[in-house]
Amino acid sequence: MKLVIAYVRPESLTAVKQALFSKNIYSMSVTNILGAGRQRGFTEMYRGVQIEVNLLKKVRIELGVADEKVDAVIEAITLAARTGKEGDGIIFVQDLGRAIRVRTGEEGL
Ligand SMILES: Nc1ncnc2c1ncn2[C@@H]1O[C@H](COP(=O)(O)OP(=O)(O)OP(=O)(O)O)[C@@H](O)[C@H]1O
Ligand SMILES: [Mg+2]
Repeated sequence: MKLVIAYVRPESLTAVKQALFSKNIYSMSVTNILGAGRQRGFTEMYRGVQIEVNLLKKVRIELGVADEKVDAVIEAITLAARTGKEGDGIIFVQDLGRAIRVRTGEEGL
């Protein structure tokens, strides 16, 4: 099992969700976050106050998936979220040790 964590543009979320649904992948968690990537951060004066403008609104999508579905998840997210411009996002894949369903106590995904 893997935990796939993707940071993408908020405006791509609907397309990403549809792409995942079309591959019968429905279980996910989504949060709004602020983030910065490789383009170096910088600060700017706004109304006399130094503010960070490098933290941009992104969404974080987490999916616990069986190993055999990881490639499909990555493909769905990359195709749906890519504009070709900087800031399209990044996908991390981590090993996932255990998953225990609360309702039934069953193990695994
Ligand atoms: N190394 C990282 N660690 C944690 N979060 C990251 C990392 N890289 C990117 N992110 C998250 O992904 C979002 C989008 O990153 P972004 O697409 O700008 O990555 P990038 O590596 O700069 O690629 P690009 O050159 O295409 O812009 C960031 O705002 C941040 O939330
Ligand atoms: Mg970037």
